[in-house]
Amino acid sequence: MNGRKIMNMNTGWLYSASDNTGAHLPEFDDSRFERVGIPHANTVIGAHKGEDFQKYIERYRFVSWYRRHFSLPAECCGKRIIIGFEGVATVAEVYVNGKPAGSHKGAYTGFEFDITDRVSFDGDNVVAVRVDSTKHPDIPPEGGDVDYCLFGGIVRNVTLTAVSPVYISDVFLTAPGLGPQGGKVRSAVSVRNTTGETKVLSVETAIFDKNGAEAARTVSGEASVKDGGSVTFDTDEIKNPRLWSVDDPYLYTAEVSLLENGEKIDTVETKIGLRWFEFTDTGFYLNGEKLKIRGVNRHEQWPWQGRAIPDKLQARDADMVKGTGFNAVRCSHYPQSPAFLSRCDEIGLIVFEEAPGWQHVGDSEWQEIYKTNIEEMILRDRNHPSVFTWGVRVNESWDNRELYTATTALAKALDPTRPTHGVRRNENYDSTEMIEDIFCANYIYPEVPRLRPFISSEHSWEHWTDGCGLPWATDAQAAEFTKSFADVVDYYYSNDNCLGGFAWSMFDYDNEVNYTRTGHVFYSGMYDIFRHDKPVSHFYRSQTESAEKPELYIASYWTESSPADVEVYGGCDEVELFVNGVSVGRIKPNLYMNVPHPAFKFKNVKFEAGTLTAVGYIGGRERVRTERKTPGPAAGLSAVPDYGTLTADGSDMTSVTVELLDENGTRLPYAADLVSIEIEGPADFIGENPIALEGGRAAFLIRSRFGQTGTVACTVSAAGVRSGRCEIAVNEYNDETSVPC
Ligand code: GAL
Repeated sequence: MNGRKIMNMNTGWLYSASDNTGAHLPEFDDSRFERVGIPHANTVIGAHKGEDFQKYIERYRFVSWYRRHFSLPAECCGKRIIIGFEGVATVAEVYVNGKPAGSHKGAYTGFEFDITDRVSFDGDNVVAVRVDSTKHPDIPPEGGDVDYCLFGGIVRNVTLTAVSPVYISDVFLTAPGLGPQGGKVRSAVSVRNTTGETKVLSVETAIFDKNGAEAARTVSGEASVKDGGSVTFDTDEIKNPRLWSVDDPYLYTAEVSLLENGEKIDTVETKIGLRWFEFTDTGFYLNGEKLKIRGVNRHEQWPWQGRAIPDKLQARDADMVKGTGFNAVRCSHYPQSPAFLSRCDEIGLIVFEEAPGWQHVGDSEWQEIYKTNIEEMILRDRNHPSVFTWGVRVNESWDNRELYTATTALAKALDPTRPTHGVRRNENYDSTEMIEDIFCANYIYPEVPRLRPFISSEHSWEHWTDGCGLPWATDAQAAEFTKSFADVVDYYYSNDNCLGGFAWSMFDYDNEVNYTRTGHVFYSGMYDIFRHDKPVSHFYRSQTESAEKPELYIASYWTESSPADVEVYGGCDEVELFVNGVSVGRIKPNLYMNVPHPAFKFKNVKFEAGTLTAVGYIGGRERVRTERKTPGPAAGLSAVPDYGTLTADGSDMTSVTVELLDENGTRLPYAADLVSIEIEGPADFIGENPIALEGGRAAFLIRSRFGQTGTVACTVSAAGVRSGRCEIAVNEYNDETSVPC
C-alpha cells in the first residue's frame, strides 16, 4: 500500500444498552450484544411528541457499550493505525484490546486516536467504546435548560486509517490575495513523525479542476521535520480560476503529498473552493458582488432516531435548504455532520457554524471544553469553502468579556482568513459589546443597529404557541405564519444596515424543555418534523432568482373555511387567478414589496368548491400555472418512500410518507386519522404504529439490515379508505474499504 488507506468501520458493531463491567476486555463475552450499524442511536425514541416522547427522552440518558472485532488487512503492516469518530454523544472512552486509547467529551465534534501500539497486525482485535449519554452539566451545551435534545450513541461515522510512520496530520489550504485574475493556494501542512528521527521532507500540492486537468502543481523546498513540524508554501499562480459562489459552487480537488527522497509517502485529498468575501457595515460581498444573506437555522435531528442517520439524509437536508431558496444556513447550535457541510460545499450554501452552547455558560472547566470544541470545529472544517464565519459565543448567552475575548483570539489563531460572529439574545442588545467581527442578534430588527456588520441570526414573529406553525394550521394561521417570516425578509431587503438573516427554523424539532407547551415539538419549521412542507417554505422558494420555471404556489387549501383573501407566492411579474375557470383578476405583486419576488394577494375571492388556478406571467407571457382543488371525501392512502432502494449495510434508511387523499389525489389537509403500518421483508420499521396523521400526512422510517437483501413491502391502512402500498428494494452491500470483522 502506498500512502494512506481510509477504511469504513460503520458495520459489524455489537451493542449493549447497559454499563457492563469488564466490557473493555478482549475476553468479555459479548455474545448477547445486539448487532448494529453506525450511525446508531442508543435507543430509538418511541414517540415523536407528547407525553410518550417525554418518557423516552429521559430514556436516552444512560451508559452503553459498543464493541467491534476486527482484523487488519495485510497491507496495514508497518503502518500507523488511527481510529476516527465523527461524533459520539456525549462522553466516549475508547479501549483497544483492553487498553485505554483515549476519551472525548462533547457530542458534536469528532476525535481520533493513534492505536498502533495497541493493535495486533496479524490477529484478532477488539475496540470497545463506553458511551456515556447521561446528563452532563459540565459539558457544553448542558448545565442549564437546552431547547433541543442531544440524544445518545455513536451517532456519526467511524473510520480506521492506515498511514505511513511519517504522515500528514493536518492540511489547511487558503488563498490569500486571490482576485478575479487568479491567485496562489497556500498549503500549511502539519506532519506527524513517529520514527523518532528527524526526516528531510518536502510537500507537493497539486490542484485539479473538475475535469481532472491540472491547475497547479508545486513542490515546497526540503525541510528537516521532527514530530509536530509543519511546512507552509504557496503554489504557483492559478490563472483565471473558476470561483466558488452560491450560483456556481465550483470545487477543485487538492492533492497534498508528503515526499521523502522525492517519493510520495502520504497523500491527503480535499476539495477546495476559491472565493473571497467581506462583511462590511452595509453589505456582504462574495467575490466582489453584494449578496443579501437569506438563511435559515437548521437542527441536526430526526424523529425516533435523533441524530443517528446516514450521510445521505444529512446531505438531503442541505439539498432541501438550498431547494427552498435559501443561500445560507446557520448550524444551530453546534458543529453539524461532515456530510452536511460537504454537501453545502457542493451546492453553494453559505454556512455560519458555531460551537455547542445554548444560553448557559458554565464554570472554568466547562469553558475549557467549550474552547476545545471550538478548536476541534475549526480544525475539522476550515477547508470547507461553504464555511464563512466561526460562532465563538454561546448562543444567546450574556456578555462575558474574558471568555469571548479568548475564544475570538483562538479562532483567529487557528484561522486568520475568516471572521467570527457571536449571537446575542435580544435582552442583551442594548448593553452588549462588540468582541467578534460580526454582530448577530435574535428577534430584533433595528433600523440602524447599535453595532455593525449586523445579521439577524434568528427571526420570525414567534408564532410558536398559537398554532400558526402547526402542520395542520388553517389557511389563515398559515398565512400569519408566513407573514411572520416574510415581514422580516422584507425588512432586511429594504435595509442595507442589516446584511440579512436566518429564519427560525428549517424543520420542526423535538426539545426537552417544552417551554411552548406543544408536546415537546417546536413548531417553528418551514417543514414539519418529518420534513413535509408548510406553505411558508413556498414563500421562500418563490424568492429563488435563477429558477428556470418560477415557483407558483396558491397558499390556500380552498375549503369553505379558507379566508376570502387568497395569497399566491411566485417569481412572476403578474398573476391571474381563476375560480372554476372564471378569472377573478390579473394583478401585479402587492405584498412584501421589498423582497426579490413580492407576493400577490387577491382580495375577496368568493368561495366556490372546485378548482383554483393561478397563471404566472413574466414579460407579459405565461410562464407557469398551478392548480388547487377543494379536497373531497377521503378515498385512499398513499405511501411514498424518499428513496426506492437501500443498501444492506444495516444503517441505510429512507423515510416513507403516508398521505390521505381524495379521489383526485388531493390531500386532506386537516385529516388526523389513525394509520396502521405493515412491513414485510428484510428491513426494520422505525416509527409509531399506528400513527395519527398530522395535516393529512405522517411518515415512518425503514432501515436496512446488514447483509439482508430483497424487497420490502409497506402497506398502510386506515378505517373506511383504500390502503396504500409501496416497495423498497434492498441491494447488496459491497464496500471494499470496510474493515473485516
Ligand atoms: C431562541 C434560541 C433557539 C430557539 C428559539 C425558539 O431564543 O436561540 O435555539 O430556542 O429561540 O425558541
